[in-house]
Amino acid sequence: TTERSLVLIKPDAVRRGLLGEILSRFERKGLVIEALELRTMDASLADAHYAEHVDKAFYPPLKDFMTSGPLAALVLSGDSVIEVVRAMIGATDGRKAAAGTIRGDLALSNRENLVHASDSPESAERELALWFPKI
Ligand code: CMP
Repeated sequence: TTERSLVLIKPDAVRRGLLGEILSRFERKGLVIEALELRTMDASLADAHYAEHVDKAFYPPLKDFMTSGPLAALVLSGDSVIEVVRAMIGATDGRKAAAGTIRGDLALSNRENLVHASDSPESAERELALWFPKI
């Protein structure tokens, strides 16, 4: 079934000039970019987006990182897109992510890991409403 996912290409990717490379992987896979916007996360959006992590020890540096510069926010759609994109991104920690995945090929950190993608239909619905309320 066709579904939608909220994907963030994080500030480290934009700074490193990897936006084109990462978008290209999604396009070559056959996913459809329904929306694409360069945005800088502010503190309140970070707290809302990462509601389940705000009390964790890794959250303060994560928040600093995610608000540190522009990121690309995307709505991607396609068959089973939520699961497909998670597989393309790879494990959270770039040091452990499998070769062939975006993080496995391009990241070496568990914080600055280039991409975020919704992990379930429920989180996709919540995150899409937060980032693209009009879509
Ligand atoms: P993301 O998919 O955006 O969801 C939560 C983010 O928190 C994750 O990617 C990483 O950027 C970050 N993260 C998760 N676990 C850790 C950790 N142990 N240390 C630092 N950052 C983490």
